Amino acid sequence: MERTLILLKPDAVQRGLVGQILDRFERKGLKIAAMKLMQITPELAAKHYEAHKERPFYAGLVRFMTSSPVVALAIEGIGAIAICRKLMGATFGADADAGTIRGDFGSSRSYNLVHGSDSPEAAERELGLFFPEGVPEYELAAYDWTYDPVEELKKG
Ligand code: RTP
Ligand code: MG
Repeated sequence: MERTLILLKPDAVQRGLVGQILDRFERKGLKIAAMKLMQITPELAAKHYEAHKERPFYAGLVRFMTSSPVVALAIEGIGAIAICRKLMGATFGADADAGTIRGDFGSSRSYNLVHGSDSPEAAERELGLFFPEGVPEYELAAYDWTYDPVEELKKG
């Protein structure tokens, strides 16, 4: 099992798309391991996007991400990091394939609805930033019918 940080960005919340976007992750069989609506502070945005701090879009990105609340999610599943990136689509809405979140809901370069960690190292770091309190442990009953319990869940 792998966990990744997903953010439903301020445009997703303000456009009333939280339910529809969350549905993309749920119907894929991924587990919502944790979820909260929260306001990102400039300090948290700076830590989260520190890799981009020299980029020309950085100031606008921090302004956007702190402009209104986001929904922060810890999403879990086998291969969750790569699967979530596929569900999200290419960075810019105009380039993203139809059928992906960004391809179906937007066409902006900056307002692209969703963030997803791009590696196991990034996921661990970002989950620590957004869920310093940790993630509750619970069993998702649907896992038994989402994955082969013998080959994939390795039970019994
Ligand atoms: P994210 O980190 O948000 O999941 O997006 P990503 O990996 O697909 O893209 P990344 O290169 O990490 O860029 C981070 C975010 O910065 C904004 N951006 N704006 N106006 C621009 O040219 C531009 N380029 C990047 C986007 O919000 C992007 O998601
Ligand atoms: Mg990124």
